[in-house]
Amino acid sequence: MRYIGKEMSRVDGVAKVTGRAKYAVEYKVNNPAYGYIVQSTVAKGRISKIDTSKAEKLPGVLKILTHQNALKVEEEGRQFRALQSDNVLFCGQPVALVVADTFEQARYAANLVEIEYAKEEPSTDFSATPRVQTRGPAPRGKPAEEFANSPVKIEAEYSIPIEHHNPMEPHGATAFWEGEKLTVFDKSQGVYGVRGHLARSFNIPEGNINVRSLFVGGAFGSSLNVNYYPFLAALAAREVKRPVKLSLTRRQMFTGHGYRPYTAQKVSIGADESGKLRSIIHEASTNTSSYEEFAEGTTRFGRTLYECPNYDSPYYLLKTDLPTPTWMRAPGAVSGAFAIESAIDELAYELKIDPVELRLINYAEKDPETGKPFSSKALRECFTAGAKKFGWEKRKFAPRSMRDGDLFVGWGTAVGTWGAFQAPATAKIRVRNDGSLLVGSGTTDIGPGTYTVCTIIAAEALGIEPKKIEFVLGDTELPKAPSQGGSITTASVGSAVYGAAGEVRRKLLGLVDKKEGSPLFGAAFEDTELVDGMLRLKSDTSKSMRIVDALKEGGVEYVEVEYQSRPSAERQNYTTMAHGAQFVEVKVDESLGIIKATRVVEATACGRIINPLTSHSQEMGGVVWGIGMALHEATEIDHRYGKMMTTNLADYHVPVSADVFSVETDFVEEKDEIVNELGIKGMGELCLVGIPAAIANAVYHATGKRVRDLPITPDKLL
Ligand code: MOS
Repeated sequence: MRYIGKEMSRVDGVAKVTGRAKYAVEYKVNNPAYGYIVQSTVAKGRISKIDTSKAEKLPGVLKILTHQNALKVEEEGRQFRALQSDNVLFCGQPVALVVADTFEQARYAANLVEIEYAKEEPSTDFSATPRVQTRGPAPRGKPAEEFANSPVKIEAEYSIPIEHHNPMEPHGATAFWEGEKLTVFDKSQGVYGVRGHLARSFNIPEGNINVRSLFVGGAFGSSLNVNYYPFLAALAAREVKRPVKLSLTRRQMFTGHGYRPYTAQKVSIGADESGKLRSIIHEASTNTSSYEEFAEGTTRFGRTLYECPNYDSPYYLLKTDLPTPTWMRAPGAVSGAFAIESAIDELAYELKIDPVELRLINYAEKDPETGKPFSSKALRECFTAGAKKFGWEKRKFAPRSMRDGDLFVGWGTAVGTWGAFQAPATAKIRVRNDGSLLVGSGTTDIGPGTYTVCTIIAAEALGIEPKKIEFVLGDTELPKAPSQGGSITTASVGSAVYGAAGEVRRKLLGLVDKKEGSPLFGAAFEDTELVDGMLRLKSDTSKSMRIVDALKEGGVEYVEVEYQSRPSAERQNYTTMAHGAQFVEVKVDESLGIIKATRVVEATACGRIINPLTSHSQEMGGVVWGIGMALHEATEIDHRYGKMMTTNLADYHVPVSADVFSVETDFVEEKDEIVNELGIKGMGELCLVGIPAAIANAVYHATGKRVRDLPITPDKLL
C-alpha cells in the first residue's frame, strides 16, 4: 500500500484554518434577509394569543411567520415541524420566526412579539414518569432463574443526565429560491435526508431541490435527523422572495436539535465464585418527548459483550414534555457500557479478581447472542497491549491503596464496542486526458476527515498522487451516499470509491486491450493494476502505459464511472464489530473532591487504519468526550417549568484543555476480509464507549466510593 495506512494531513485543513471553507450561514448570497426564532416560554399548553403588530412596525422587519400564517405541511407523521399549530409541546419550541434585513433587527423584533399561553402543568421529572416497555429481543436462556441461583450477585442502579452536543458551528441554513428551484446550504450530516424532508414539506419534486453541506463544524449526531429550521429558512425565503439565513443561537441549540436522553439503568449480574458469568439482566429507561418515540438501543451491545448464557435486556421509554432526544456520539452504547462495565467492575471487587482478568475469564470467542463467529475481534490483544503500555501489572488491587502525595490514585479499565456497520453508497470518478481527476460522493464530513480518507483511498486505487485528486462531497448533485452517522462512512463511501476506481481501470483497459501492439493487448482485468499514473500488468510491470495515453489511444476525452458498493452477503454469516480496551488513571483530592483524569491509554481494534493521523485524532476526541461525560456534563431541568436551565457553555460544563492530561491511543490492526474489501471498520464512536465507565471505575479504585450517577462531580465524593 502506497498511501493507505500512511499519515496524511487533512486535505481541507488549509481551507478551514484560513476561513476559505464556508459553513452553512456563511455562503455569500445576494441580498440576504435574516431570521430569528421566537421560542415558547412555557412547556405545555396552547398559544391563546399572538400579537406581532409591534414587532412588524420596526424598521427592517419583512415578515413574521407564526402558526397562523405559515404553510401547513401535509405529510403524516409525528416528527416535530415548526409553526403547524397553537399546540405547545416543550419549552423552547419555535412559535414564531421574524425575518428582517439584519440579524440584529430580527432579534430585537423577536422580543416584541407578544404571546399569551393557556398553560398546562408540564411533566418532565423522570422519577415521577411511568415507564412504557418498548422493542427488544427476547431473553436469552433463563436469566431470572439463573440470577436467583447464582452464588455471587451484583445489583446496582445507574443514571446519566441529559447531555447536549455542543459543536462549534451553530445549527443554521441559508436558503433561496430561483423560480420553483430551491437551494439550501445546511449544517447537516446527510444532504439527501434534508432534501427528502424539504420535498415532502413543500410537496415539490426532490429534483427541484439542491442541498449542500460542504463543511460542517461538528455535529456528533445533532444533525443526523433533519431539524426543523431548514424548512423554516426555506419557507421564509419563499415568503420574502429573498435568500434567508437562519441560525440558532447557542442557547437555542439546547432545545433546537435534540440531546442524549436521560438514562436510568439497573444491572443484575449473577456469577460463579470462579468469576464465570451466569446471568445478566440489564434494564434501561430513557426519556422521550410526548409526541415522538425516540429509543436508542441502550442495552443492545451488552448482549454481545461477554460469554454469558442467560441474558435479558428490557428497555423502557419515559414520555416527558421535553423536546425529542436524538443520536449523540455512540448513542446507547456509551450509556449502556457505563452501567454494564461499572457493574462488571463491582463484581471484580466482590470476587477479588483483577478487573482485566475477570473480563478475560468471560471473553466471548463467538457472538453469544447468535453463535456466529466474529469477522475479527482483537480485543484480547487490545487488553494485552493497553495493559502493558499503561503498566497495569503495578496496580494494587485494594481501593485507596495507591497514592501520589496527598492525592489518591485510581486505575480503572473498561471495554468499548461498536458495530462495524456498512451501508450502500455510490461514488463517481471522472479521469480526463489532461490528467485531472474528480472523485465525488454525496456524503458529508462533519470533522472526522472524510475528505482526506476518501482522497487516500482514491489515490491508492487509481495509482495517482493524492494532491492530484479532488474529492468532493456534501451536495445532492453528487451520487447518493448515506448520512454520516453510526461510524459507517469510511467503510461505506470508502468502499464505493475503491470500487469505482476498479471500474475506471476496467474502462481504461477496455480502451487498449484489443489493440495489437498495445503493451496491454489481451490483458485480463484481474492481472492489471493502476500504479504511478500507469495502467500495467501485475505479472510484468514493464507492460504498462500511462493513464492519459490510454485515454488518448482510445480516442476519448475522459472516462467516468458511477459505482455503488453494498455490504457483502458474506457478512451475514458473521458478527461484525469493533472493540477496544481502555485504561484510565485518576488522581483525587479527597479534601476537595476534585478528580483529574491524569492518564488514559486506549487500545482499539477497528480493522485497517486508512489515515493514522486523523484516526488518532478521532480516538483522542472520543477520550476527551468520555472525560466530559464522566466528570462534567449535565443538562439541568427545572421541573416546575419543564425548562432546561443550563443552556450556555458557562453552566453546561464541557472539558477544556486543563481537564485533559496524557491521552495515548493505539490501534491493534485487524486484517478483516469479511467486513469489506479494504477491511475498514468505524472508529469515531467506538473510542468513547468504555471511557466513562473506566473513569468511574478508577474513581472507585482511588477512593473506595462507587458513584453510579454521572457526572462524578466533587459533591458526590465529599
Ligand atoms: Mo453519530 S451519533 O452516529 O452522528
